[in-house]
Order: sequence, then C-alpha cells, then structure tokens
Amino acid sequence: MPLSRRTFTALTATTAASLSLPLSTAVAATPDDANTPGPAPEADGRTHTVAFDKYSLLVDGSRVVLWSGEVHPFRLPSPSLWRDVLQKLRAHGYNAISIYVAWNFHSPAPGVYDFTGVRDLGRFLETAAEEGLYVIARPGPYINAEVDAGGFPGWLTATKGTARTSDPTYLAYVDEYLTAVNEIIARYQYTRGKGTVVLYELENEYASNVTSPAGKDYMAHLYAKVRADGIDVPLFHNDKGRNGYWTPGSFSTGDESGRYLYGFDGYPSPSGNPPDWGYFGVGGAKGGSTASPDTPGLMAEFGGGWFDPWGGAVFAGKGYEESRRTRDAAYERRFYLTNLANGIKIHNVYMTFGGTSWGWLPAPVVYTSYDYGAALDEARNVTSKLTPMHQIGQLLRSVPDLAKLDRAQDTAAADPALKVYHLTNPDTGAHVYVLRNDTSASITSTLPLGPASAEVTVGAKDAKLVLAEAALGKRELAYSTVQPMIQLSAGRRDVAVFAGRSGEPAEAAFAYEEEPEVTVLDGPATATYEDGILRISTHLDGLVRVVVGGTLLVLFADDETSARLWRYDTPSGPVLVRGPALLRRAELHGATLHLTGDTIEEADLEVWAPRGVQLITWNNGPVHVRTTPSGSFTAGRALPGVPDVQLPALTGWRQRPENPESEQDFDDTDWTVADKAASYSTTPVPAGRPVLFADDYGFHYGDVWYRGSFDDANGAESVNLAYSTGTQGLLMAWLDGRPLGTHRMPVPTSAQSTQGTWTATAAFALPADLRTAGGHVLSVLVRRMQHDEDGGARDSHKSARGLTGVAFTGADPAVTWRIQGASGPDPVRGPLNTGGLYGERHGWHLPGLDLDADGGWERVAFPVDGPARQGVSWYRTTFRLAVDHDVDASIGLTFTDDAAHAYRVQLYVNGWNMGQYINDVGPQHTFAVPNGILRTRGANTLALAVLADGTTPAGPGDVQLKLLGSAAGGVEVRSVPSPGV
Ligand code: GAL
Repeated sequence: MPLSRRTFTALTATTAASLSLPLSTAVAATPDDANTPGPAPEADGRTHTVAFDKYSLLVDGSRVVLWSGEVHPFRLPSPSLWRDVLQKLRAHGYNAISIYVAWNFHSPAPGVYDFTGVRDLGRFLETAAEEGLYVIARPGPYINAEVDAGGFPGWLTATKGTARTSDPTYLAYVDEYLTAVNEIIARYQYTRGKGTVVLYELENEYASNVTSPAGKDYMAHLYAKVRADGIDVPLFHNDKGRNGYWTPGSFSTGDESGRYLYGFDGYPSPSGNPPDWGYFGVGGAKGGSTASPDTPGLMAEFGGGWFDPWGGAVFAGKGYEESRRTRDAAYERRFYLTNLANGIKIHNVYMTFGGTSWGWLPAPVVYTSYDYGAALDEARNVTSKLTPMHQIGQLLRSVPDLAKLDRAQDTAAADPALKVYHLTNPDTGAHVYVLRNDTSASITSTLPLGPASAEVTVGAKDAKLVLAEAALGKRELAYSTVQPMIQLSAGRRDVAVFAGRSGEPAEAAFAYEEEPEVTVLDGPATATYEDGILRISTHLDGLVRVVVGGTLLVLFADDETSARLWRYDTPSGPVLVRGPALLRRAELHGATLHLTGDTIEEADLEVWAPRGVQLITWNNGPVHVRTTPSGSFTAGRALPGVPDVQLPALTGWRQRPENPESEQDFDDTDWTVADKAASYSTTPVPAGRPVLFADDYGFHYGDVWYRGSFDDANGAESVNLAYSTGTQGLLMAWLDGRPLGTHRMPVPTSAQSTQGTWTATAAFALPADLRTAGGHVLSVLVRRMQHDEDGGARDSHKSARGLTGVAFTGADPAVTWRIQGASGPDPVRGPLNTGGLYGERHGWHLPGLDLDADGGWERVAFPVDGPARQGVSWYRTTFRLAVDHDVDASIGLTFTDDAAHAYRVQLYVNGWNMGQYINDVGPQHTFAVPNGILRTRGANTLALAVLADGTTPAGPGDVQLKLLGSAAGGVEVRSVPSPGV
C-alpha cells in the first residue's frame, strides 16, 4: 500500500533512520489553499486583502514569500528607465521591490511638495504594478540611506525641535510630509487595486528612545497618522539588527487587529559565517526567536553589497567592484539561503540596483556613485550576482511549499563540516534542506534526504537548497542533490529545471510507480530505477536534457545557462524561454507569441510555449522556428547581438573663469545679510557674533559664498576661519581679491567617528600691505558638502554647514557679513541640483547658453594645463550622439589625470548635476549618466565647474564618453525635460 505523504512525514519525525519505501506517484497531500501560489500582482481594479500569519504574508489568502530588491527611484532620475530596472528584476525572479522615499528630494521648502517629473512617485508605483512586482514602501520620515541628512530636507535642519522624537514642531512638519506622500502611496496600495504596495515601513532603524515616551509616542504618532492617511496594508519598522526593538505591542497602535509586524536588518561581514536570526537557531542576544513569534520573519534590509567611502589614506574607498567581489554570488547563496532557513519570508536585499546619488544627494559618507556592488550595476547591467537571485526567486515561485516551513528533525551530514538546516512544510510534508559549507574547500558528503540517502557536493563558502518528497508540479520529487529552479507546464510538457555550479555532480530522483522510459537528449546523464524511484545523474555543464515518460522534461543547467532561462506567466499559461540576455515580456495574441527582450551577444532562442502557439516574434520581428524533441520551438537562426556603439570624442571646449565674488568691488547688495543672533543648529554660535551657518539663511545645498566688509585692517595679522562641512569639504579665501589660500577639511583618523567631527579652522596671514585703514572685503567660498545623517537620533543633521566663526588676530574689526548660496531651486531638477557658484547662479550649467553673446568664453583644448589659480573655472562643450533606436547604450563620462592635481569637478549634463569628481581623492573616475537625461539620439550640453585650490595646474585632464554597457532591445526612453537658460 503506498504511503501517503502526510503519514510518511509522521514516520520520519519519529525515525531517524533513512527508509526505503515506495512513494506514491501522484501528489497525495491536498495543500491548504494558502499553499497555492498567487499570480503575479497587477493593478486589476479589484480590492485585495493583505494579511499575514506567523509564516508569511497572505495575499488574498494565498501565501507569498516576498523576494524583494531595494531600488531607489530618486537615484535614477529618468522615469523611463524605472521600467528597465523593474523588468530586469522581475525577469530574474524577484516578485517585489522595496523603495525608500527621500523627503528632501520632494520638498524644497516647508509646505512645498513636488511629486512630478523625476519625482513622480505615482508613476514609479504604477510602473511597478504594470511589471507585476509587489512594493514595500519606506517613506521614512527618516531613512538614512546614505543621502543628505538621512533624507531630512535641508530646511528641516534650521527648525526648532528635536527630530525623530515626539517633539510637536518636528511632528507638525512630519505630518505635512506624510499627508503628501501618503496620498500617493495610499492610492497605489494593492488593497485598492490600482497599485501593488503591500507593506509600509514606519521610520527606519530607530534604535534610540526605545523605552522613553519621546520614542514610543513618536512611533505611536506615526502609526496613527499613517492609518489616518488611509494606509491599510500591514505596517512594520526596520530594527537595526535583531534587537527586538519595536515589536508588536511595544508602542501603542490604537488598533490591536494585528496589522503591524516586526522587521529588522543585517549587514554581516562576508568573512564571517551567516548569523542565525533566531527562528531555528539560538537567536539574537536581545530577542532571538522570541522577538516576535506571531509575525513572519521580515528582513527589511539584508546586505547585497556595501557603500564605498571617498578615497584617500583613512577611509580608502576602493570602488564598487570591491563590494561586488566580497559580496559575490556565493555570498548571496550562503547568506540568503540561511535567512530562508531561519524563517525569513519577507526578504529584501539592500541594494539590488543602487543607482546614482546625483547632485547633492549623497550623504558625506559616500561619493556620487551608489552602485553598492549590487546585483544590477549602476549602468543597469546585469552582473553575475543576479544569477543566484534568479535561481532562488524562480524556485520560490515554483515551489509554494517554501512559504510555510517548520523546523524538522535535526539531520546531520556524514561530514559534520556541512551544516544542515532541515525544514518541513506541515501541510504537504515536503522536506527542505539548506546545506551550507563554511569551510574553504568543497565538501562532498552523504546525508539523509527524505527517505533516501544521497551524496551532495557544496562548494567552498557556498550553500544550496534541496528538496525531498516535494511536489514538483504534477510529479513528486523524491529528492535532489541539486537546487530546483523552475517547474512549469508548457504545452504537453512538464518542465523541471535544476541549476548549480558548472562541473558539480547533480542527481534528481522522482517517484514513479513503474519504470518510465528515459531519453537523454543532450549531455552526459544516466538513469537508474529502483524501488519506485527514478534517479537521473549527471554533471552540470551547459544544459543537460532528459525526457522521462514522454511528458516530463528534466533540464540541468549550469549557472551561466540558468541565467539565460526565463519564465514568464501569461494568462494562457507559462512560457519558458532560453537564450537571450533578457526576456522582458511574453504576450499571446491568437496563435502568435510575442516576445520582447535584449540580446548582447548573438543568442539562441528556444521557447516552451502554451498549447496552440504556432508563430513567434522577437522584438516585433517574425522568427522562423522549428519544433524540437524537447517539446520546444527553436529559431533557425541566432538572434543578432548588439551592434557596435560609436561615441564621439569631446572637442570644441570653451572655458570661462569666474568667482567675481572674490573681487573687492563686486556688488553684493542683493545678498542676504548674515546677522542672526541665534540658531537651532547643534553647533554653538560664538558669543556676541552673528550666525554664519548657511542653513539659517535658506542655503541648504552646495557651495556658499561669504563676503565680510570691514573698515579697518590696521593691526590685523591673520584671520581664523572656523568652518564645518562633510568629508572632503574645503574653504578658500581672498582679501580684497587677493587669494589668502585654500584649506581642506582634514579627514578624521579612523578611530574617530565620521559624524560631527567635520569642523576645522583655517588660519590665513593677511598680506602686510593690506593691513590698512579703508574698506576691505574678505571673500570666502565654502564647499560645505552635505549634512550628516542622523542615525543615532541626535540631531546630527543640524550640525552647521559653512562658516561657523571668524576671528582676527591683532585686531577685532567689526565685520558685516553677507551670504549667498543657490538661487532658488530649479523647478524641474529640484533643490539638490545646484549650489551657489556664480556660474550656477547665472545658468552656466544649463543648455542653450549663447557663449558668444555671454562673452568671456575662450576656446581651450583638453588636457588643460593652465596656470595654478585658486577659484572656479567653467568648461563647456556640446556633443551629438546617434545610438540606434533599438540599442540600449549605457553611457558615462570618465576623467583621467595626474592624481597630484588638486581640483574637483561638478559635471552637468544638459543642466543636470551628475556628480562630483575629486581628482586627487577618487576613487570614482567614471560617472554614469542615465539615458533620458543623456540624449542618445541628439545634441547634449556638457558643463564642468572646476574648483581648484591654486597649488597645482588646475586641470581638467582627459574627459571622455565611455560605453558602460549595451544591448539590442531596451525600453522606450523619453527625454527628461531639461530646460535651458
Ligand atoms: C542601514 C540603513 C540604510 C542604509 C544601510 C547602509 O542600516 O537602514 O538606510 O544606510 O544601512 O547602506
């Protein structure tokens, strides 16, 4: 009598020995409804329910494991490309994304909110819904995220009250923001059928005030406000590590209906072993497995790379290839599979597409690129890190049993160095094993897998997930020693795909009552049949194909091949495509299957399609196909790869020096007089002196100029200029137009904190012949970089920026200070685009400036080896690109020069500030420019604002366009509006 799967589970629970019993061929257990995977979400206009139990989210009653990647819309300022990134993630097995919303990106002033253009959050959420991705919304109000002030608007740094507490002034501003942002998020909740938002985060890593009323009341206020704004999906907080902070019940939610769950994050070192978060292991010191037993494991952020600091001796940023190398594909398998073994069912990887901290977005700790070493790089290229994500994401979609797991009986491998997590689905009896090798050598060991005992290989510092007694579609997988990836039924064939490292042995065993016919179509594979189990054995190499019983196609793919296997679910059933670099979409119209996607190299096209399909198109062109013994169609000819992309050299440069502000007779009458007596900054105001902090006068981003007028310099010997910036800030000063020198903010030693220590005093001797009576002007330019983040909830973002105090030696003249920064936010590009340089205030960064009419723009050839001069010079040119319509070319700008030259560049492409290059600091030399801002078919304006300290030739050296990636295909890209002068 065949044993039912449920009975069998019960047996295995009481016997440790491996049994060899016949298994039923059909799937005996009836899974509860929740074990059927829901379809990909869409904005279908219907209402949906989003709930959870201790295992997972329940969407319309179906279990969903969220396999999510963090993406920041504000770090990709080209709305058309949002679709590209989202399609790439969806194709690679993600079913969700998580987004921060940066308050500062949307609010140039109190009460002013902008959600249009590159800030169109609604459009982003709509695109995510169209691409079938769930969304986790994380609008803060504090986000951290390596953005200026951790996302707080510049203007908030100059307001009363303590941020991140229940302070009433702060809360009033928070409410204003939440009203604006929640109006959009609420509209795109999955519960309303217009979008796919299923979770919403309150605050972020709020590890302070956990027990105090200021903290509890703050969280309670946020909860109540968000609910009042119509957010009805479950809420959570992101605890900074599994501390057990802000678990359900830790603050008042006013509703006890269980719509709040516990979430936490983790960024473990790649050189350590993955932590056990506490579902099956011992748990964290402050909560462990008891942190929140009734809510599903929610990892709001898990490290997918790491951010990189500026270059130089102390912090020594190495560039993002290093993050990608240390948190590589094997890191992802080992750490993320351990998370799944620990009961994490909502898993978000931070970052999955990092993008660019353009303009003045980056926090002081990072430079422009926020590539993060993520699976999808800054130039939108797929990296090898997407392969494991793809494999695991597809697996979660194909095997719904993984959404509900309990700890099962401890199981050990013969080699104790192979760590085994054994789990089981209590409804279906499916067994899940996460096998992890923490050693530096590959391990091959036998271990019990369900009823059998098998030999499994796990590479050095790697992991895999295997199943036993699990339904794989209509078949029962007795066990496998290789990770399952995809299961689907296409036409008359059931297809089961397994994937792993090239060269590794792989075995998949299926339950069959009678010995089935086995045909090896491709590759080295053998099959044996014994006691109701068919075992297929092979080594992974390309694609091994085996047909079993005429109806089941078993594919064994090595990593590289698996990265070219695409599943797409259509209303008529799933499609499986092999070959191209990306499948974006599959649509069935009548008997024609329309596929769209990308190729890079020439590629095969093989398709397993629903019944009835006769014709196939690729990117709207017909493909001649024939049928194969694998039950698929293949194209007679390879799909073409991407043609060469030619980029022009940058020539025709014009140069114009600026900083008239340093001249004595510059007219500053319309500048703001800096005469405030008090500030809300955390930086003290020197007694009896005026406030000089830029934020107090409404200048929150980029450079700021000061002009101090005084009548008598008699006796004055030197001036001490105290100032405060983020890392890499500097100050330069002139007296009556004569340069006094440049002071660079010293980098604290690594032993010091990076926060709040960025203050210094520049001491300059006054030229002897200027120590006279009569009017004098002290001009000071401060590159003040950005505001600190406020991770510790200590108002660190309110640390002053700009001059903080001025004192002369030898005399104490009365100085009248005037200050000038950016001249009002660019209505399209926003407040973080420009600072207060003369050129920025006069549109020298914008397209359309008539250089002949403007005057003073000399022709210049690069490299510029001009004389050393303290101050600012601008360089401009235009260039045309003519990239084919159907080519997605990702393009950047590369700067190369003698690293001894002390200068820095802000680069403007069509008026958009695409970042800051510091020639003698690095490490970033190449700056990605998103298409849309860059016109790939048409004219572009490039402007460089070069700030030099006057000690070396003032550059720039070599500046070139650089191709960062290309593919035939891509999405339609609309130009981002780029108004000129
Ligand atoms: C987390 C934080 C994120 C980001 C990340 C590091 O702790 O929640 O916002 O700062 O660290 O990239």
